[in-house]
Amino acid sequence: MNAVTRIGSKVRRLAGATVGIPPRQIDFHFAEDSPRYMYGNNATASLHFAVLSGFFPPGEMFFVESVRRYRERITDQRLKAEVSGFIGQEAIHSREHDRLNAFLKERGMDTAVAEKTVKAGLWLLSKLPASQQLACTTFMEHFTASLAEQLLTDEDFRRQAVPELLTLWEWHALEELEHKSVTYDVYNLVGNRWYQRLLALPLVIGALTPGLFISWSWMVAREGKTTDWKDIAEGLSLLLGRKGFITKIMPLMPEYFARDFHPAQRDTSELEKMWREKLFGENGELKHAWRNAG
Ligand SMILES: [Fe+2]
Ligand SMILES: [Fe+2]
Repeated sequence: MNAVTRIGSKVRRLAGATVGIPPRQIDFHFAEDSPRYMYGNNATASLHFAVLSGFFPPGEMFFVESVRRYRERITDQRLKAEVSGFIGQEAIHSREHDRLNAFLKERGMDTAVAEKTVKAGLWLLSKLPASQQLACTTFMEHFTASLAEQLLTDEDFRRQAVPELLTLWEWHALEELEHKSVTYDVYNLVGNRWYQRLLALPLVIGALTPGLFISWSWMVAREGKTTDWKDIAEGLSLLLGRKGFITKIMPLMPEYFARDFHPAQRDTSELEKMWREKLFGENGELKHAWRNAG
């Protein structure tokens, strides 16, 4: 790392940290002897999370780019600092998901096809006007914030997830909540158009879900589970059943389409506080792993 990058990341850390969005430098190490499947001892559900992990690095790069394009229009010092924190957090998320993806690849669960399909979907979205791309980003950030809230409040999730891999998802979820308003505030600044937000739903679903199902099916097939109906049924139930993890996120989705929506209307500050303490407090699970703590 050269001096300029080092100084740049230091400034970004300080700017983000002053507004409660600190990009925390953490290097996750995944235990070689951790169970093969990270969720519910089930291949189908675990590979869904692997696909999500494959989606994050290109997806988060798209989020950052769609905001960066408008950066020079931001004059408010607070929002500037929040954008810095957001960019810093997303960059580290991508790096650590790359690390998890490399770990999964070593175990024969290669997420490359997920990365390729999401890149193809994002390439389609990148052909849209810049303001529509930013609207799509605000929708996806609403989805990730909803996913994060669910993950941090759902005891079922913690029961099913492998402890060695759990903290990565918890740290990522906490930071998603910390920066959940940033892209929306930038979008408000450059002209929030309700019709663009309505359009974001079919655009994002149309661009990304085919790749999600293709790569998920491909990974299940490579795992030799295509005809393991028990595993598939269990996995689908864990995610999409009546009490499934994804099912429980769906009620939070419609909020986004209200004309006067703002991510902060859903107050998650107590939840964030609780998890900051749990992960980075005095006896926090990640306290000593946080390399650039203030
Ligand atoms: Fe993220
Ligand atoms: Fe995010």
